[in-house]
Amino acid sequence: MQYHYIAGQTPLDEEEKRGLIPNLITREDLNAFEQENILEARQWVMQKTTLSKLDVWTEKFLLNLHKRMFGHVWKWAGTFRKTNKNIGVDRLCIITELHQLLGDAQYWLEHQTYPISDLAVIFHHRLVKIHLFPNGNGRHARMCADVIVAKFNGEKLSWGGNSNLTKPDDLRTRYIAALRDADVGDYQPLLAFARS
Ligand SMILES: Nc1ncnc2c1ncn2[C@@H]1O[C@H](COP(=O)(O)OP(=O)(O)OP(=O)(O)O)[C@@H](O)[C@H]1O
Ligand SMILES: [Mg+2]
Repeated sequence: MQYHYIAGQTPLDEEEKRGLIPNLITREDLNAFEQENILEARQWVMQKTTLSKLDVWTEKFLLNLHKRMFGHVWKWAGTFRKTNKNIGVDRLCIITELHQLLGDAQYWLEHQTYPISDLAVIFHHRLVKIHLFPNGNGRHARMCADVIVAKFNGEKLSWGGNSNLTKPDDLRTRYIAALRDADVGDYQPLLAFARS
């Protein structure tokens, strides 16, 4: 399997690469395999009537969702990153940063700091900025945002018309640029992108 990385992606180390479950040859095969797994996870999470509003803000749910999204593809699905990457906090800070974010999110919700869809987009950005996993952080965080909007009846997000965003095209370039603005505190481009 040849790995080529595009802008805004985090390369895998050798150990993480060995976690690939199916015998895939090309990046296209990998993308397709992941996409199928992700669709299955989306159906699971959107129909999961036992998932309460409180469950969404738990480490357990976030890990479980990643496992559901990538568990047929990567052995390490649903487990925290153990290596440092070009994006994300130091691996040793992942859990504390995550719990800080979960606390912030509950506060925003309680005090109605943001409209739900803004809260979901900001939550997604904070998640990718922490970078919980070796891979799949973007797709996982966007699905989390979609779940938040669905659970709390927010305005649906469209992510530029395609929440997969794995192709190195204009849409992805705009998404990554908007994330970089959000990194320095300007959320407007990302909020606009997520609704476009
Ligand atoms: N400057 C940045 N600030 C915050 N988040 C970023 C930045 N650049 C990239 N990201 C996020 O990191 C993700 C890439 O991480 P990762 O490879 O783990 O996710 P992925 O779901 O596999 O998506 P990708 O298709 O990008 O590989 C991007 O999709 C984006 O959400
Ligand atoms: Mg990736």
